[in-house]
Amino acid sequence: MKEQLLALKKACLEAISKADRLSNLQEIEVKYIGRKGELTNILRGVKDLSDAEKPVIGKLSNEVKNELEAEFKAKAHALETAELNNKLKDDTFDITVPGPDVKPGHIHPLSQVQNEVEKIFSSMGFMIMDGPEVESEYYNFEGLNIPAWHPARDMQDTFFIKDKKDKKHGRMVLRTQTSPVQLRTMEKYGAPLRVIVPGRTFRYEATDVSHDTTFYQVEGFMIDKDISISHLKGVLAQFLSKLFGKEVTVRIRPGYFPFVEPGLEVDFSCLLCGGKGCRVCKHTGWVEFMGAGMIHENVLKAGGIDPKKWQGWAFGFGLTRLVMMRHGIDDIRLILGGDLRFINQF
Ligand code: DAH
Repeated sequence: MKEQLLALKKACLEAISKADRLSNLQEIEVKYIGRKGELTNILRGVKDLSDAEKPVIGKLSNEVKNELEAEFKAKAHALETAELNNKLKDDTFDITVPGPDVKPGHIHPLSQVQNEVEKIFSSMGFMIMDGPEVESEYYNFEGLNIPAWHPARDMQDTFFIKDKKDKKHGRMVLRTQTSPVQLRTMEKYGAPLRVIVPGRTFRYEATDVSHDTTFYQVEGFMIDKDISISHLKGVLAQFLSKLFGKEVTVRIRPGYFPFVEPGLEVDFSCLLCGGKGCRVCKHTGWVEFMGAGMIHENVLKAGGIDPKKWQGWAFGFGLTRLVMMRHGIDDIRLILGGDLRFINQF
């Protein structure tokens, strides 16, 4: 039996060394040392051996089995490595080739201009405030001197939310302007103030090239002692000259907004024709830009500020319109339309 075991070992080692594929190796393993393999077969004869021989053969068979198992393991590893290497050789995979191009996004033109506006006003000592887009009727209208019966409400029809907040604040609305943040800031900080409020606003509009239901505005205001319209003119001329990178002249005309008295319309000199008159300025030399005025005393009072001690001016312009002017965009609906063919141009 000893010879049988040694012969098996020899034959098996030879077969292992000849195996050239993993599947092949597995077959050999089953054949020699598998549960129903040759080794098992030989060991069936152990029961007929003498008591003295049994442990000797038992020990030898264990040794043979362990040795062969180690050999199978080593060969399997060698074959696996060889097969992998072969595969890699055939594959034309070059790990130095750069991956697919991931296109990074970029800042939306609206946000680009908003950032610039914020930077310029910050440099003049203005703080930047934010306010809720779902605003109460009080902050959006009443507190700004636009009571429910006021005809100015017609121009700013909006989306109302059914339930009333409370008696003072009325219903909730999608804010039609960023002006309500005037009141919120006055209530929170008191005078003096220098503030701008860029933000999203809404109107109930039939959309066309120059109207959208959602657009962006910048409200600005200043409250201090002895403040006049000259300060407004100076700040705006400075702001626009910095924004456009050339000297801009500002013109003011009388206008009407319920929350200012006197109210103003502000135009700036046409950048395209330098004031000579062209298509952009409708041959007037001036571009209509914003509403403004001295803050109405009712508004100061509503904000908890004593109008006898403090004065201020306010203005509001369309950030969306500014972006359109800057890039010569002739349809407002493109701005928030989300069409990448449009957006990727900026
Ligand atoms: N909130 C006004 C609008 O949406 C714009 C405006 C006009 C704001 C005059 C002002 C102002 O602060 O003084 O039409």
